[in-house]
Amino acid sequence: MTDSRRIVLSSDHAAIELRQAIAAHVAAQGFEVTDIGPVSPESTHYPKHGEAAARRVATGEADLGIVVCGTGQGIMMAANKVKGIRCGVCSDTFSARMIRAHNDANMLALGARVLGEGLALEIVDAFLGEAFEGGRHGTRVEMIMGIEG
Ligand code: RB5
Repeated sequence: MTDSRRIVLSSDHAAIELRQAIAAHVAAQGFEVTDIGPVSPESTHYPKHGEAAARRVATGEADLGIVVCGTGQGIMMAANKVKGIRCGVCSDTFSARMIRAHNDANMLALGARVLGEGLALEIVDAFLGEAFEGGRHGTRVEMIMGIEG
């Protein structure tokens, strides 16, 4: 089965291997994947990589984003600073489905020092396989997006 959705991926140095495994896994399913790196294992700063992926989603260059750092937490915080982004860290498949179904998350964050590759790929599949339910959840997402300051 192919999927026309465009997925952008980024990480910091702590998560290069997992990010590349996710990129290959997602591409093999027919998604259009843009992996914006980094490639070098040199220490880098997760905020700039989280922001870079988030901007691709916010501008519509990508439909969904997946970002990875050691815990997933820092890169999630950076992504959520970009207007229009709803990014959640997940360590289980239930949460990954629910952030799509109820929160209309457009980005997923993962911790490479938290998860094994097998579980991480299942979480990615759960996230990409779910759709937003809308309805009352739409009202709540609009409320989130209306929060300023
Ligand atoms: C890098 O050492 C580490 O701080 C980073 O990958 C991430 O876990 C931050 O949230």
